[in-house]
This record gives sequence, C-alpha cells and structure tokens, in this order.
Amino acid sequence: MSNLKISDRFVKSFLPETLLQKELENAEKARQTLIQKTGLGNEYLGWVDLPGQTSSDELQKMRQAAETIQTHSQYLVVVGIGGSYLGARAVIEALTPEFGGHESHKKSVKIIYAGHHLDADYHSRLLAFLENKEFSVNVISKSGTTTEPAIAFRLLLSLLERKYGKENIKNRVFATTDKQKGALKQLADEYGFPSFVIPDDVGGRYSVFTAVGLLPIAASGFSINKLIDGAKQMEAELKSKSTSEGNVAAFYAAIRNALYTSGKKIEILVSYTPALSFVSEWWKQLFGESEGKTGKGIFPASVQFTTDLHSMGQYIQDGERVIMETTIKVESPKQDVYLTEKSDDRDGLNYLAGKKLSDVNGSAMLGTLIAHKDGGVPCLEISIPVLNEETIGGLLYFFEFACGISGYMLGVNPFDQPGVEDYKNNMFALLGKKGYEKRKEEILSHL
Ligand code: PA5
Repeated sequence: MSNLKISDRFVKSFLPETLLQKELENAEKARQTLIQKTGLGNEYLGWVDLPGQTSSDELQKMRQAAETIQTHSQYLVVVGIGGSYLGARAVIEALTPEFGGHESHKKSVKIIYAGHHLDADYHSRLLAFLENKEFSVNVISKSGTTTEPAIAFRLLLSLLERKYGKENIKNRVFATTDKQKGALKQLADEYGFPSFVIPDDVGGRYSVFTAVGLLPIAASGFSINKLIDGAKQMEAELKSKSTSEGNVAAFYAAIRNALYTSGKKIEILVSYTPALSFVSEWWKQLFGESEGKTGKGIFPASVQFTTDLHSMGQYIQDGERVIMETTIKVESPKQDVYLTEKSDDRDGLNYLAGKKLSDVNGSAMLGTLIAHKDGGVPCLEISIPVLNEETIGGLLYFFEFACGISGYMLGVNPFDQPGVEDYKNNMFALLGKKGYEKRKEEILSHL
C-alpha cells in the first residue's frame, strides 16, 4: 500500500455526480486496457511492468558504473533531451539539497546537463568550464540520432579525446541507447564504451525507471533500489486495485477528464517546494506529449507557490476560467525552521512566534486552495508524506500510469509523438541535410 493520497474536496462542487461516475467507469475500462495491453500503442507498454521486473543484477550493474564515475570524476555530464533527461533531473533535483551537505552521498558527482537545447553560449561555456575538471559523460538517446544530444556529445567527445587521449576514455563515457540500432550504439561499440539498453517497448518519457534515469540518479548518490521499491509498490497497487476500490491513478485520470469535458482545458501542476520544479517539467512532458494529439488534450502547465502567487496568482484567481489545478503536497519537510518572538516586533511577525515555517507554508497552501476554488478553479490535491527516493519513485510511476489511463480515456495513443517530427524536418531542410532538398525549397518559398 503506497503512501500517496488524493483528495477531491475542492473539486466536488464543480462536477455533477453523474459525470464523475461516468468518467470513473471510463477510467476503469481504460485501466483494464492498459494492464491487459490491448490498446493503442501497446508495443510501448514495457514501462507498466518495469519496476516489478527490474532485477537486482541490473541495479548492481548501474551502481557499479556509478561508482566508477564517482572514483575519477567531479562532474557527470548527462547528455539527453526530453524523456532522455527529464526523469533523471526530476529525481536528482528533488533530492539534492540546494546548499550541499548531504551526508549520504559524499562520493557523488555533480551533474551537469547538456544536449537538451542548442544554445551556443551555454555549450561554449560548458566546454571551457570542463577544460580543467575531471569529468565523465553519460550520453542518452534511444534513437541514437537526436540532433541536440548528438551535437553536444560530439563536442564533449572531442574534449575528452583531447584531454585524456582516445585510448583512455573507455571508462569515462557511458552510452544509454537502443540495444542495436542507431548511430550512438555503433559509436559506443567502436570506441568500446560501456552501454546500457533502453528496452524497445519503453518510450522516452516513460523511461525513468530504466538506465536512462537510474544511472545518473545512482551517480548522484541516491538509492536506485529505494526508488525502484517505491515504484514497485505503486505498480502493485495500481494494477491490483480497481477504480471502485480507490485506485488513485484512475481517480486522477477520471477527475481531469471530467473537468476537461466541462471546459477546463489547462491543468496547472502546483508545488510548494522548489525541489519539485523538475518533477513538474517531467510531468509536463509526460502529459503534453502523451495527450496533445488530433486537436485534443489538456494543456499541462506548472507553477511554484508561493513564488508564482506573486506573478501568476492574479490570472489563476481571476482570469479566464479554463484552468484546473493539481497540487502536490509534501506533508513534512526533512528539516523545519521555528519562528521565534522578537522583543520589538517591528516586522509585526510576533503572531507567528512558536510556529514552524512548514505551518506557514501549509496555511498558504490551504488559503490558496480555498481562494482558487472560490474563484472558479477546481483544485485536486495529491499528497506524499515526505520527499525521498521511495516516495518519488511511487509518485513518478503514479503519474505514468494515470497518463496511460487518461490518454486512453481521451481516445488518443498516449505512447507516440508524431507531432515532434515537424520542427526537426524543417530544421534539417534549413541546415541542408541530404534528402531534405525539396522541403527546403518549399519552406523558403513561404518566407
Ligand atoms: O518521450 C519521448 O519519446 C521524447 O521526448 C524523447 O525522449 C526525446 O525526443 C529524445 O529522444 P531520443 O532518446 O531518441 O534521443
């Protein structure tokens, strides 16, 4: 039984009971389709069973690679884009203390991300920074041909070769890619780099529990065993519990689809801790790329409160009423701060003396939920007890499972992403790639 809870107390008034009931029934059908693997895109459903099927040998192999990296490197450059980097970053940023001092991962390396955009300044500064640092690279690409990571890797490989010599970099580059296809696999084999496989039946945005996420997470000093344990518990719960028995993922999918039908076209994921900002980025990709198809889909956005209450708060409270809100609530911080009394009370805060900062944050959260609900924004709450490897593992699996159900309810294939090819084809044409001559002519004729 996982620790994740979901509450619709601030949604109920927006949904007629009959509509919710109908969507709950649809959610159960979609859940069955997902676990029986009979729906659209079922060739990409390997992720559904992944946590339960991950062997301790596989985890050990990743931990060993992580230790190798930790013994000789200060930095690990994680090269990947979209599903090939967001899961690792979500977990690492959620667990890494902002100002250091995490006792349990003294040996860990610092992670730097590259290949997730094409900015020249960033990449030139990165290369200059790494010039006199000890570093390794984990290049991650399922297709092995994605332009952004391929360019970053080419640059980093040249630097590694120059710095250490081609013959000395075999234990500094780790490739995570397809088991046989793609330029990256060929390159890794030619150079003799250790490689980790992304299974054929696991798409990028569902790949956090493969080496795509696990190797960088292990190198950061976090327990991939605990992460998988949390996901495994969630997997068992979501597969075994029916919607009427309180399946949390099916409930979430049912609510968001019922609200979508009622005109709520945008879902904002809210957190009250900056630690979750990359969980939100990962979530946006998961839902956006899975559901935004054939003219349909909720637009996933994210905000961080209370920070964004001072920037986006006005719109959410009072702007166009097309928003639903999903708050991720972390019940207890790892450490708290106590507010004390001051004799002069110049700042007028003595009324808070004796309270913890988490109490203040909690009141901001409850106050916001009530205000937004009163302003016409249905607010769903998802809570986890604390932020650690197990709860994050459970949370990410929960979202993946809910997304599969939700996509099926919407009537789309949640496991493909045909729309992302268009910009690539135009870019290749503009850059003069062979085979794109005709497209180039067409594009230029429109300018
Ligand atoms: O979810 C997805 O499939 C995408 O976001 C991919 O992960 C992303 O485009 C990177 O692809 P690749 O791993 O092939 O480089």
